[in-house]
Amino acid sequence: MFKFTFLVCCLLATQSISDAYKILVVFPMPGKSHSILGYSVVKHLLKAGHEVTYVTPFVEGNHHPNLTQVDVSSNMRLIPKGGLDLKRVLDKQINVIDNGFMFYFMKQIQEATLEHEQVKKLLEDPNKTFDIVIVEWMYCELGASYAAVFDVPLIWLSTMEPHWLVTRLIDGNLNPAYNGDSISSSIPPFTFLQRVKELWIQIRTSYLLLIDDQEISYDRLVRPLIEKKGRKAPSFEDLKFNASLVLGNSHVSLGEATGTPQSYKPIAGYHIEEVVKPLPADLKKIMENAKHGVIYFSMGSNLKSTEMPDEMKQNLVKMFGELKQTIIWKFEEDFPNLPKNVHIVNWAPQPSILSHPNCVLFITHGGLLSTTESVHFGVPIVGIPVFGDQFINVQRAVKRGFAKKVDFSYSMVGELKVAIQEILSDSSYRTRIKELSLIYHDRPVSPGAELVHWVEHVARTRGALHLRSPALHVPFYQKLYLDLLAVVLIISLIFYRIICLIKNLLLSFFQTNEIKKKKKRN
Ligand SMILES: *[C@@H]1O[C@H](CO)[C@@H](O)[C@H](O)[C@H]1NC(C)=O
Ligand SMILES: *[C@@H]1O[C@H](CO)[C@@H](O)[C@H](O)[C@H]1NC(C)=O
Ligand SMILES: *[C@@H]1O[C@H](CO)[C@@H](O)[C@H](O)[C@H]1NC(C)=O
Repeated sequence: MFKFTFLVCCLLATQSISDAYKILVVFPMPGKSHSILGYSVVKHLLKAGHEVTYVTPFVEGNHHPNLTQVDVSSNMRLIPKGGLDLKRVLDKQINVIDNGFMFYFMKQIQEATLEHEQVKKLLEDPNKTFDIVIVEWMYCELGASYAAVFDVPLIWLSTMEPHWLVTRLIDGNLNPAYNGDSISSSIPPFTFLQRVKELWIQIRTSYLLLIDDQEISYDRLVRPLIEKKGRKAPSFEDLKFNASLVLGNSHVSLGEATGTPQSYKPIAGYHIEEVVKPLPADLKKIMENAKHGVIYFSMGSNLKSTEMPDEMKQNLVKMFGELKQTIIWKFEEDFPNLPKNVHIVNWAPQPSILSHPNCVLFITHGGLLSTTESVHFGVPIVGIPVFGDQFINVQRAVKRGFAKKVDFSYSMVGELKVAIQEILSDSSYRTRIKELSLIYHDRPVSPGAELVHWVEHVARTRGALHLRSPALHVPFYQKLYLDLLAVVLIISLIFYRIICLIKNLLLSFFQTNEIKKKKKRN
């Protein structure tokens, strides 16, 4: 008997270790940085021997035998016209993104993806099966539908620092007294006013969540698909709080030491290749010859420097020309008569440049991927935030002492020069980033290995139910002990009543006695 059990155990063990899983990865957001994060998930899973189906607006030229890509580039048409236009930001025509807008925008993206011909074909195919579904969480839970259609465990991937909109899906809200909202630009410890503002954002956003109508879309687009496969469709409410895991593009070296639930796994940095590709020969020569170091300037992939006003461009070139450092500027157009120390490149291998020992400073828009890379490679930054989470990323970097912030404005060039000179002349910025880089790298395994491990763990344990937080099943009024408050109030009321009653009884008793006595005396 023992032998038999042992044999079965061995079989199960080897089977579970060598199992290749079929994994559906859905990243429908039409943004380059989102697709970098999505494709990096895919690459890690392929490398670990799994079969991956990847739904993306940015199809990669990768012909791996175990990769199937579903092209949803038609989602690109949903991006608001001129939404990422630098000039409109400069002229203050674009408001900072708010939660309400994101809910609306992302629901459109999710619906368009579910309605896409190729995606529909995939979802309707009765022979198609998966073991696990990984969906990017972006202000919408309709993505949970993929897990319901294939009846498999769901993993969210959150591209930001942990925040309450994500933790509420696997645990509960984070306390607004010391946890910022995803769109907030405050960093704890909060002032009184900041604390009130964070509470207000949670209350207002909770109201928006209460009245949202994702369920209608689910009933219309997804329920029939599940029923056609002969299963009863779960309610959307059950479905959206049923994820096995949240993989977070965060790490304590980059953000706060937020108290997160067991089923939240921080894996920031997984998009950075462990072995950096060598520099192309021309860039290599430029970097090796830079006696005073290299400043790398890039405003990211979705902010076109060509949209910059001409005067700003001229001033930048002039200011860079006055520095003794070599500048590598990722820019989409060429300039006549560039100063000798300024090099414009249309495409830049960012990790390879940042990892070069001569790279002394990174001027960036402060996107999360770029700030992560600056910590990964230990290069201090000047941040010029323009959109969304770039403000808070740069603010965090400033607070941690490895960055200076410059406001994106018509007059920023002078400010930028001062910031560059301060960082290069004060060694504390460099010391600080090296310390953070040490914390970032000092993990038991690489973030990519951790990603693969947790995905496989969920598959092996059929949904990792043991990681689920008990908080998910505790209603709001119980968390705040409102029921206890009600009981205490009722008991107090009853006591008060009883005491009043006794008092009245005693009073009337004494009064009648008094009257009797008086009568006797009379
Ligand atoms: C493709 O997946 C199969 C399992 O389905 C695996 O055995 C094989 O090694 C994978 N191929 C590659 C090139 O990774
Ligand atoms: C599903 O598989 C069955 C049996 O292998 C086959 O007869 C059928 O045509 C397949 N259906 C689709 C839609 O591919
Ligand atoms: C919730 O997830 C578990 C594990 O993946 C699964 O067994 C269960 O059917 C899911 N429930 C709903 C309502 O989707």
